[in-house]
Amino acid sequence: MDKLKIGIAGTNRGKHFFEDFGKLNDAEVVAVMDPDKEAVDRFCKEHPVMHAFTKYEDLLNCDIDVVVIASPIQMHAQQAILALNKNIHVLSEVTAATTVEDCRALLQAAKKSNAQYMMAENYCYIRENVAVRNMVEAGVFGKIYFAEGEYLHNVTYLHYDKHGEATWRRKEITTKRGSVYATHSLGPTLDWFNDRVKYVNCLGSGSHTVPEYENDDSTLMLCRTEKGALINIRLDMVSNRPHNMGYYSLQGTKGCYESPRVPGEEHRVWLKDYAASSEKWMSLSDFYADFLPPELIHFPEEAKGSHHWGADYFMVKEFVQCIRENKPVKIDIYKALEFTLPGILSEESIRNGGTPIEVPDVHTW
Ligand SMILES: NC(=O)c1ccc[n+]([C@@H]2O[C@H](COP(=O)([O-])OP(=O)(O)OC[C@H]3O[C@@H](n4cnc5c(N)ncnc54)[C@H](O)[C@@H]3O)[C@@H](O)[C@H]2O)c1
Repeated sequence: MDKLKIGIAGTNRGKHFFEDFGKLNDAEVVAVMDPDKEAVDRFCKEHPVMHAFTKYEDLLNCDIDVVVIASPIQMHAQQAILALNKNIHVLSEVTAATTVEDCRALLQAAKKSNAQYMMAENYCYIRENVAVRNMVEAGVFGKIYFAEGEYLHNVTYLHYDKHGEATWRRKEITTKRGSVYATHSLGPTLDWFNDRVKYVNCLGSGSHTVPEYENDDSTLMLCRTEKGALINIRLDMVSNRPHNMGYYSLQGTKGCYESPRVPGEEHRVWLKDYAASSEKWMSLSDFYADFLPPELIHFPEEAKGSHHWGADYFMVKEFVQCIRENKPVKIDIYKALEFTLPGILSEESIRNGGTPIEVPDVHTW
């Protein structure tokens, strides 16, 4: 089979995808599009491609096998639908959609299409998250019942462009109350539970750091899963503080996991069957040899410079392999919507003072 021909929509995040696809022998980025002509020109100077466009339709019409959707969040669903309608495989940035209606439309398009849809939730490919998932599967934590995920990332400097215009992050994220960018935190935890969220309750801290913003500085989304577990998600993209974009914890009947709160700390586990005492933590890395494939223990050169702790490279590599071998992708349309819908419905919960909102089972749609 020839190399998989990739087209990228959106040049900023898109350049990371260009770099990771470029490391593979069986895929090639052949086209790019961005409505901003200057952004296209900038991209092409450093990332040579055969075709460059400012219209999304032109990108879809230029003989590509896969489109990578790295555009602003509110475009993802409609752009994915247009591609699926043309039987072009989709790798879409998070979140999959921003409304329940778009989730439904996206599912219908994916069901009808001969192409596959995957949401690019790269946090599921972070080494530590993969190790914890494999340890959960092996029963090392016993029965798991509680997890936390936090995405603390002050991006206020990205809210206005150089002309003083509000960007999509200001318009689509900070005008909405709720956990509207939750998939980086919720995705990996749902992956551990192999479960879906059945109810969400959402509360916020109020708006303090930039009082004119409509959303809360910190938002908590409590998720109750179908199997009865509890997941707490904190989202904060405004508060003045150092970043921690990947905090997670997990509790089971036989042990727990704690990721670092601050740089320099270790990923730690306490496991009843392995611990020297009831208070002594162990390093998660002590378990890598038993629970990770070799390339996740000793990163190949290609993964070393890849963004998000190497996760982007592993995600892209696996996606290409699945498409080429016609195997199901990991974060398919159902998982993508299960990661995305709780955040959308959290908007309703927070509006109603934190009342529980039932999350529909997308398998019944
Ligand atoms: N998974 C991750 O770790 C991660 C990291 C960064 C960004 N993202 C996601 O990537 C997406 C883009 O983020 P960004 O940081 O590059 O934003 P950005 O605002 O820096 O850049 C967005 C780009 O998209 C272009 N654009 C606008 N409308 C478009 C359209 N209709 N089609 C194609 N391109 C269009 C803009 O001109 C701009 O060049 C967002 O959905 C964001 O959530 C994900």
